[in-house]
Amino acid sequence: MDAKDMGDDLAAVLIDADQIQARLRELAAEIDRDYAGRELLLVGVLKGAVMVMADLARALHTTVEMDWMAVSSYGSGTRSSGVVRIIKDLDADLTDRHVLVVEDIVDSGLTLSWLMRNLSSRGPASLEVCTLLRKPDAQKGHPGKGGQAPVKYVGFDIPPEFVVGYGLDYAEKYRSLPFVGSLARHVYRPGS
Ligand code: PRP
Repeated sequence: MDAKDMGDDLAAVLIDADQIQARLRELAAEIDRDYAGRELLLVGVLKGAVMVMADLARALHTTVEMDWMAVSSYGSGTRSSGVVRIIKDLDADLTDRHVLVVEDIVDSGLTLSWLMRNLSSRGPASLEVCTLLRKPDAQKGHPGKGGQAPVKYVGFDIPPEFVVGYGLDYAEKYRSLPFVGSLARHVYRPGS
């Protein structure tokens, strides 16, 4: 799938495929340096993190194991519901493991704050986060909800627009785009 397949549902390409791959190579080099001599467990958060997990894992030289967790904080709309629930838990035991959570986007930070509390209670040797995208609200913190979601590796800070592609969906569509684009307003606000 590419830009032309979206027709007028695409407002703009925000980060093209080459920029994504180049940034993931930089992040992989940083992660390789930081985890030298250790084994790493990458925890991908389904479904959005599938693309970033696949490309980041292949850019790393560090030996990695991959596991997956499915949590849900959104319905099929554009706003966080504030409800996080586990759809699929990890297969791996995190005790004494070096764990790196891989996300496509930190938006409100709600999912990540919850996830960090949950995973840190499982006794990992270390727990860090890598996200391809981060929106401004993610840095504001969430008083009473676990505080600011700490993210060690960030691909791109983006404006608060509705974005799709490279794993990110609108109503389950557009995850397979190789780039990150902003969605035309008429798609999620019909009649506006
Ligand atoms: C997206 C994304 C993050 C979360 C971020 O997942 O993958 O997990 O939302 O939003 P937040 O920072 O506001 O909590 P989503 O629940 O849409 O599921 P999906 O990955 O299956 O699309």
